[in-house]
Amino acid sequence: MSEIETDGVADAPTDPTAETHLIPAPLVTERRDGAPGLRTLDERTTLDAGPGTEGAARWLRAVLGAATGLPFPDGGPGPDPYGITLRISADVEREHGPEGYRLSTDGSVADAAVLIEGGGPAGVFWGAQTLRQLLGPDAYRKAPLRRGARELPPITVEDAPRFGWRGLMLDVARHFLPKDDVLRYLDLLAAHKLNVLHLHLTDDQGWRLEIKRRPKLTEIGAWRPRTKWGHRASPLWNETPHGGFYTQDDIREIVAYAAERHITVVPEIDIPGHAQAAIAAHPELGNTDVVDTAALTVWDTWGVNPNVLAPTDDVLRFYEGVFEEVLDLFPSTFIHVGGDECPKDQWKRSATAQARMKELGLADEDGLQSWFVRHFDRWLADRGRRLIGWDEILEGGSRTEDREPTTLGLGPGGETTTLGLGPGAAVSSWRGYAGGITAAEAGHDVVMCPEQQVYLDHRQAPGDDEPMPIGYVRTLEDVYRFEPVPPSLSPEAAAHVIGAQANVWTEVMENRDRVDYQVFPRLAAFAEVAWSALPVPVERDFADFERRMTSHYRRLDALGVAYRPPTGPAPWQRRPGVLGRPIEGAPPNV
Ligand code: ACM
Repeated sequence: MSEIETDGVADAPTDPTAETHLIPAPLVTERRDGAPGLRTLDERTTLDAGPGTEGAARWLRAVLGAATGLPFPDGGPGPDPYGITLRISADVEREHGPEGYRLSTDGSVADAAVLIEGGGPAGVFWGAQTLRQLLGPDAYRKAPLRRGARELPPITVEDAPRFGWRGLMLDVARHFLPKDDVLRYLDLLAAHKLNVLHLHLTDDQGWRLEIKRRPKLTEIGAWRPRTKWGHRASPLWNETPHGGFYTQDDIREIVAYAAERHITVVPEIDIPGHAQAAIAAHPELGNTDVVDTAALTVWDTWGVNPNVLAPTDDVLRFYEGVFEEVLDLFPSTFIHVGGDECPKDQWKRSATAQARMKELGLADEDGLQSWFVRHFDRWLADRGRRLIGWDEILEGGSRTEDREPTTLGLGPGGETTTLGLGPGAAVSSWRGYAGGITAAEAGHDVVMCPEQQVYLDHRQAPGDDEPMPIGYVRTLEDVYRFEPVPPSLSPEAAAHVIGAQANVWTEVMENRDRVDYQVFPRLAAFAEVAWSALPVPVERDFADFERRMTSHYRRLDALGVAYRPPTGPAPWQRRPGVLGRPIEGAPPNV
């Protein structure tokens, strides 16, 4: 059942071009009504999967098979005018890279009803996702609404992503998202051709990853007895205990499920701030000479927390042990170490921290933060991985004449850029574009995720009906108009912007439906920003996007996504009386 048919979404199926309302928009689409060809999928439709396309074939049989009730029997390599043919093509790879694809349903290829050629396995998979869109919204259901043949529009598509990193960050620390919900989000990312799930696994309010050698991290750190209900200034509490964590087998399942969908899961273990849950489990990790860390509990409210890790060798060893298990679980090249919002007050008061600063020849406490980050930069590089952190990792870090890399823990041979980080380190630019610009100009890769543009926890409309509204108003159109590459960058620096990411912090999102509400429909706009080539002239056509969204809302309905309807929240999506913190006016010019 569609919840919103009467809520302002135009009735897309009456539009004969609805099935070609593709999101994200492909590079080139050509529709040729009247073209010859067999574009009917039915019981006879075979599936011929060439070498390297087996994963896409498995997905297609499982997902489109369930939605249509068609069996898609194995077609073998010979020509089959009724068949779907999947191929890896060196030609497509040359022209569009491994994620590019060509799809044809218009009879321009004589020996298949549908041909998908990818530059690599990922390209074939993205092509299969486009095929699903061409089959109409019911192709997003888990069982057929009717038996029988399905018609495809006559179309050729030529497509490739603009960016290699097309990400969503889910904060599963503030509110835990059960494993099945994470798997569902992987399907939602894949449906939008997004390919990175950044999981924010640890924070003051919860530690969500089983670490075998440190069971207390989850025994103690994975739950809290109560939770602030709304913004931190709210007087309300939810007195229901909240918690949960992913076992290592859960993570293996999530990572494998993601890999089958050509999505990389990037884990984040936040250091040296956002660490109160870890300190509650292991008081020795905190600044014991200035706070009674044994009295700390998993935090039950929101904000920037003063309880940060102590800058000691023991803490480094503890986290090396954690990261060893993280590396075993997550094959991602990039490992996120957080690095954001680390108040320095405790380090200023701590004799231990001050002695460490002196020993390392550091000018200030910012240098201590760099020391943490650089240690793991080098540690990860030694293991063939790359550090990524929030843009605070650039602070207190510039290398100067009197600060040789060895004094900062990089060790002999530790090459660094002018910013004092190893050349492989990358930055998630969240406090606007500035950090990303600095990093890209110094030769670091950058993922652009400025809070003023793509923090999906920010409210998406003005008005009191928005549930627990926080931040600036960032509408669907605002997100659609987000441009990840600042025009001031030189071509060399711009090439370091490897992608874009939307971030979802979950303080005021207590469950999956609340996450859905904040994420959708804006993730569809974000997907187009991250995937689709910039039009020439550089002016995105929001009216055209909105027209295509009429079909996309139907797809989201079929998927059971609890998005924000264009006319505003349904009654059950509101949270009357629960305090948010809306910020008035436009976000600062970034
Ligand atoms: C952040 O929003 N603190 C990265």
